[in-house]
Amino acid sequence: MKRIIVHGGSGKWPEEKWEKAKEGVLEAARTGFKYLMETGDPVEACTRAVMSLEDNPIFNAGTGSVLTLDGRVEMDASIMRGTTLEAGAVAGVENIKNPILLARKVMEETDHVLLAGEGAMKFARSMGFEHYNPITEERKKKWLELKKKFESGRSTLPWHKMQELIKKHPELLSGTVGCVVLNDEEIVAGTSTGGVFFKLFGRVGDTPLIGAGTYANSFGGASATGIGEGIIRVVLSKTACDFMRVGVSALKVAEAVIDIVNSTVKLDAGIITIDRAGNIGFAHNTPTMPVAYIREDEEFVYISKEEKG
Ligand code: GLY
Repeated sequence: MKRIIVHGGSGKWPEEKWEKAKEGVLEAARTGFKYLMETGDPVEACTRAVMSLEDNPIFNAGTGSVLTLDGRVEMDASIMRGTTLEAGAVAGVENIKNPILLARKVMEETDHVLLAGEGAMKFARSMGFEHYNPITEERKKKWLELKKKFESGRSTLPWHKMQELIKKHPELLSGTVGCVVLNDEEIVAGTSTGGVFFKLFGRVGDTPLIGAGTYANSFGGASATGIGEGIIRVVLSKTACDFMRVGVSALKVAEAVIDIVNSTVKLDAGIITIDRAGNIGFAHNTPTMPVAYIREDEEFVYISKEEKG
């Protein structure tokens, strides 16, 4: 039994970008599924799917990551194998192309789970990761606009009120990416992000935190998206896998954990899930979340309940 699901981040995608976002997630799911069929290796499939999303500048991960308050890109990523509970993650990495590959190196080449900042960069360079600038013109333009407003005192960026901030500036939350893969007995999950726009330098979100942004065990796997400060506090992905452990199906689990977010931290969030029986789930409390999944007999792509046609 083979399954793959990917997301391109919960948020409020403007309608003119819906088609491109859907094309992007479908392409990533197809890339991952192709590797899954050819190699039977869910780690490779998950890595390839996330790399496809990182390389697509419309998503907020890898190339096209959003900028920090001081105009840099600090990226986070993680990956986890459900059968062995091996995991690897990086936080606050700069100037590399594919943070998910570096997270995988942490899992496969070190005794650690999470490397951050300078140390993670030192590790990246010694693993042969070349210097790469992930900042796109579009992201830089947005950053300059926000910076001008900020400096002139016209900014409506009250960082202590994230929910209000996102309501006023939905474009700030434009999409972490993630993937969950099932290959017969094994489930693998991975997530990658540039974080949230105008974040304070050094800020780490949910994505590299195993249990929050990513989790997999032998019962299920999950990848989360949304405001990390909320997802961390409810340990969203591990909570989803705990429900799958006691037999709740992936679809119900996705809805249940988003209900938990809505009744507790009340911040924007989305999740994708697969359980070991092959059920697939996703849910979000935001207007949109590009999702694509593939199983042997079906290809599915989605962005919003509101989509017509
Ligand atoms: N969910 C991505 C972040 O908050 O960094």
